[in-house]
Amino acid sequence: MADAHDSSHHHRYDHHDWDSPEYVSDWASGQDQKEKARQEPFQVLAETIPYDKAVPIRILDVGAGYGALTQFLLSRFPNATAICQDGSVEMAKLGQERMHHLKGRFEYALCDFSKPGWTRKLTGPFEAVVSAIAIHNAGSPKIIERIYSDIFPLVKNGGCFINFDRERPPLEDQMKWLRKAGFQDVQRFWTGETRALFGGFKR
Ligand SMILES: C[S@@+](CC[C@H](N)C(=O)[O-])C[C@H]1O[C@@H](n2cnc3c(N)ncnc32)[C@H](O)[C@@H]1O
Repeated sequence: MADAHDSSHHHRYDHHDWDSPEYVSDWASGQDQKEKARQEPFQVLAETIPYDKAVPIRILDVGAGYGALTQFLLSRFPNATAICQDGSVEMAKLGQERMHHLKGRFEYALCDFSKPGWTRKLTGPFEAVVSAIAIHNAGSPKIIERIYSDIFPLVKNGGCFINFDRERPPLEDQMKWLRKAGFQDVQRFWTGETRALFGGFKR
């Protein structure tokens, strides 16, 4: 899997170790304290999804982890369901526990988004493809560009792809790749200190 430091190592993403139960558990407890700070961009994300809150939309959360964004969206869209895509069995386990109360409204799909063909397991279309602080883990700009073009066919006409992530690679490049993939009205919806909320629509 993608690793900026050792591409021959198959169990690490960037400097993280998402396959380690200890690493995942530590990351999740650290993240819990930061969760409050994410409420604002998550709220903007929910408002940017171009559907009425009552519509039974299908959501794909790319690199969903334990499902922080999925949970947030399923509470705002009470008739929605979600596919939580992730490459880490440990994260999926944690997500099953943490989202127990949402049983029946979400499923995990395990695959590595840095590998071509990762979307084969994902049955679209989705009204909303979303992602939070995950895609930068793919490491190389070329791979991120490809991931954006892989996502486009999964989005339903009238739907959107919205990503909350680091501005690394530079946001201008990422927005260019989104336009190249076919998304329209590509824009930044919210800006934080180190992260941005950006994406586009499929018309
Ligand atoms: C920083 S966590 C974010 C999790 C969640 N989206 C959130 O905001 O709480 C990054 C997630 O991306 C997943 N991930 C990283 N690289 C991946 C890859 N190549 N394929 C699939 N998932 C990957 C990790 O397993 C991890 O769950």
